[in-house]
Amino acid sequence: MSNQEAIEKRRTFGIISHPDAGKTTLTEKLLLFGGAIQSAGAVKNNKIKKTATSDFMEIEKQRGISVATSVMAFQYSGKQINILDTPGHKDFAEDTFRTLTAVDSVILVIDCANGVEEQTEKLMEVCRMRKTPVIIFINKMDREGKDPFELLDELESSLNINVRPLTWPIGMGDRFQGVYNIYDKNINVFSANKTKIEKDIVSISDLNSPELDTLLGEKPAAELRDELETIEGVYNPFDREDYLAGDVAPVFFGSAVNNFGVQELLDTFVRISPSPRGRDTDAGRMEPDDKKFSGFVFKIHANLDPKHRDRIAFLRIVSGKFERNTFYKHVRLNKKFKFPNPTSFMAQDKSVIDEAFPGDVIGLYDTGNFKIGDTLNEGENFMFKGIPSFSPELFQELENLDPLKSKQLEKGINQLMDEGVAQMFIQQPGNRKIIGTVGQLQFEVIAYRLDHEYGAKCRFVPKGYHKACWITTDNDAQLADFLRAKANYIAKDKDGNHVFLAETSFLLQMAEKDYPDITFHKTSEFKLERV
Ligand code: G4P
Repeated sequence: MSNQEAIEKRRTFGIISHPDAGKTTLTEKLLLFGGAIQSAGAVKNNKIKKTATSDFMEIEKQRGISVATSVMAFQYSGKQINILDTPGHKDFAEDTFRTLTAVDSVILVIDCANGVEEQTEKLMEVCRMRKTPVIIFINKMDREGKDPFELLDELESSLNINVRPLTWPIGMGDRFQGVYNIYDKNINVFSANKTKIEKDIVSISDLNSPELDTLLGEKPAAELRDELETIEGVYNPFDREDYLAGDVAPVFFGSAVNNFGVQELLDTFVRISPSPRGRDTDAGRMEPDDKKFSGFVFKIHANLDPKHRDRIAFLRIVSGKFERNTFYKHVRLNKKFKFPNPTSFMAQDKSVIDEAFPGDVIGLYDTGNFKIGDTLNEGENFMFKGIPSFSPELFQELENLDPLKSKQLEKGINQLMDEGVAQMFIQQPGNRKIIGTVGQLQFEVIAYRLDHEYGAKCRFVPKGYHKACWITTDNDAQLADFLRAKANYIAKDKDGNHVFLAETSFLLQMAEKDYPDITFHKTSEFKLERV
């Protein structure tokens, strides 16, 4: 296959949602449609259940499963679809943000009763920053939820994106009769069915035909006509270019658990979603059709077997063709590496591959050479940009409980940070390690892994910081002033960048006012220093 054909064929995307909206269920149904799995329940286990907060064996088991299901590839309608899994648990949101740098588009799942939830807003913020094309699937229409128009308004106002319905629900909950496909002008009649893929499509070429009244009943038919008229009046016609630019999100309605509305979503997805896109580097943009291979690491997964310190680095291929057993340059280390066993993932199966193309994600066995954000290429000097790091929400100081094991602790915590488990800020005096996370679960995972994988015991002491802000300025005198005045609240991130640990949002605002030439950033990009 030529590179160009391979690129045209690929669609690499992620499914995101607030926990419980139906991401796992939808993923599973897409895999069923794609023939990648044969029965429901196969993906389900990939979830870290809320109840598992302190069940470490469970976490370990989940980590194992999530390696296998990190990328789920299948063929559908002549396309190779790569779904990149994102952790549902909110404490691992940072992992999700990074995975979003490796996809070319996103399907956002919304629960029709809950509408836009906290996690949805954050995830969409990342998509907007990167102008990622988004399709929205409003799920659980078999249950009573918010009015569909109200939901669309909420999506527009809370997520700051224009929407355009491409299907429309006929009733909801007990009155749910199906969805009208606005473009193909047909109705998919609803029947609750959790296991089989079956459709009952009725073509309605003329909405005014009495056929519609016979099919739905007079009242629902009249309502549907009214609603569709409103849609045509209120929303602009769907324009693929606007979708690809990240300016408008097409919306589908359905019920994932009942396999309903999923095929409409998938069929439209393969028609409109983007093929692999290029990425920015510190020396210009790399496009997929560039002849030379390049890619970046967006996720690192420690191996389950603590006796072997090897890990899997997940590499997204941006350009050219990756080949097994070929030397590539690890730009940060300025060293050449070759990979005898690169793996691809097909639903639950891993297999060694000989070659991979733009849009593909492959697993590289690693003995500690990779960090998140690393670039591999054919020998050039550029590095990919844009793996963001967000201000953590919780901060705790790491204390060593066994002075004899300080080397192990040091090594362990550094490796866990390379994996992106949390963020570490170093404070002086005394090289104090402040660990920042999105949720409490990450502290528990770190303590458990330091103990089990590195033999180091630690404890965490909570710090009452509100936000970590990366600071930049052209005014050296003001910076020097600020660093002196706030010495107790200054730390450095792992790349040596200055970070201000603000105790409250008020104190942050005061600092912004008092030091107008300093910019306080709530996100940073991983700026990897070359060795
Ligand atoms: P997540 O990955 O986004 O966290 O959500 P997940 O798919 O696990 O779905 C959360 C719950 O919502 C599950 O129920 C799932 O069965 C249910 N669900 C998903 N899609 C629909 C739908 O279209 N309609 C209805 N009514 N429910 C839906 P659970 O009780 O948590 O799990 P389970 O015991 O059913 O597996």
